[in-house]
Amino acid sequence: MEKFIVKGGRPLCGEVEIQSAKNAVLPLLAASVLTDEKIIIHKCPRIADVLNMVQILGELGCKTQFDGDDLTIDSSDAANHEIPSALAKELRSSVFMLGSVIARFGRARIAYPGGCDIGLRPIDLHLSGLRRLGVKIEEEGGYIDCTVEKTQGADILLDCPSVGATENIILAAVKGKGRTVIRNAAKEPEIADLQNFLNRMGAKVAGAGTAVVVVDGVQKLHGAEYTPIPDRIETGTFLIAAAMCGGELLVKNAVPENLAALLHKLREISCKIRSENDKIYISSCKRLSPKLIETSPYPGFPTDLQAPMTALACICEGSTVVVENLFETRFKHIPELIRMGADITVRGRSAFIRGVPALKGADVFAGDLRGGAALTLAAVAAEGESTVSDLFHIDRGYTEFEHKLRGAGADIRRIRV
Ligand code: UD1
Repeated sequence: MEKFIVKGGRPLCGEVEIQSAKNAVLPLLAASVLTDEKIIIHKCPRIADVLNMVQILGELGCKTQFDGDDLTIDSSDAANHEIPSALAKELRSSVFMLGSVIARFGRARIAYPGGCDIGLRPIDLHLSGLRRLGVKIEEEGGYIDCTVEKTQGADILLDCPSVGATENIILAAVKGKGRTVIRNAAKEPEIADLQNFLNRMGAKVAGAGTAVVVVDGVQKLHGAEYTPIPDRIETGTFLIAAAMCGGELLVKNAVPENLAALLHKLREISCKIRSENDKIYISSCKRLSPKLIETSPYPGFPTDLQAPMTALACICEGSTVVVENLFETRFKHIPELIRMGADITVRGRSAFIRGVPALKGADVFAGDLRGGAALTLAAVAAEGESTVSDLFHIDRGYTEFEHKLRGAGADIRRIRV
């Protein structure tokens, strides 16, 4: 067990370099099974979710090797179509393996996936999409068994724009027969990144980043080298940290246009933001309340930044309503923020926040990945000393989180207990 010890109240100043996007890398790792030639992912973050996915690849018979930040995957000897339940339960992205393992072996067996406990997170859209591609699916004893000779192109309308379902269907269709059209597809930038990666492997995917994705099946995919896009959620986390602590921060290796909803809100609360190419500069002034934060699929306000933004709203002048539209139980950070002196009332999927001048140090527990990051920011901004426990949640998505915060002036250290 590890925890952060934080002495809060210092401004953040300096520079932070952003890692490659967790949510881009995970589907790329799944896609690497689609070829028996080598894949090299440059700037691959060694976060726990990536390491778990690498372990799953190992179970399938793929060889993987890190050389610095470059990860090489060689799937030429991959022979196993079963994803062990212990690993599948560790992370939800294991479900992406379904599409690519089916495409590679004509069959797949996987335990129901785990991941952050932030709501029901069904996978019905993944499964109905795969069925539309001709995959026979049996669900029994917590396992999903899939078989198909070759997926067959289909016109698929998603009931809601699920990121994972869109990616899974693309992965299953990319080496299938004929054309697959996914309508009401999710538009997240990580899906466009998957498209770019697959096309570099020789696939024919178009439209990712819009509501209609078209996949024309190809016979074979080849090896590729690729650098995934920067992590917009990590970028947002550090921008919010600067807004909470005051000071001036330069965030490098960012894609400002992928964070328009957050930048708009930060400007609204009176932060000064300047962006140029892959850099975003923020200086924080008086914090006015953001009034309404309502999460929605991209390009709306990202659910993954709801918890950090809620922490920020706690110390803004005036009242804020936060509405979580995507996941049912994504408010686990709120009782912890209340322990730090926040004034919040929750009614269903809405949190009503009355701003206080400052949060106070307390011992808090990370309940999930982004909630844990939010509590760390709250501790860094708070008056006095805090501890943040259960860091394994945070380590799923952030590399060197405390080092980056410390580099910008925060007093934070990790201890083993
Ligand atoms: C992905 C991201 C996660 C982010 C989320 C929403 C990855 C690895 N994870 O998760 O960080 O919080 O997008 O931006 O990329 N749904 C169904 N049935 C399904 C699938 C989803 O009803 O079969 C619902 C979900 O319950 C949720 C909504 O669709 O309400 C969006 O979920 P989805 O986009 O699928 O999220 P993930 O792909 O799991």
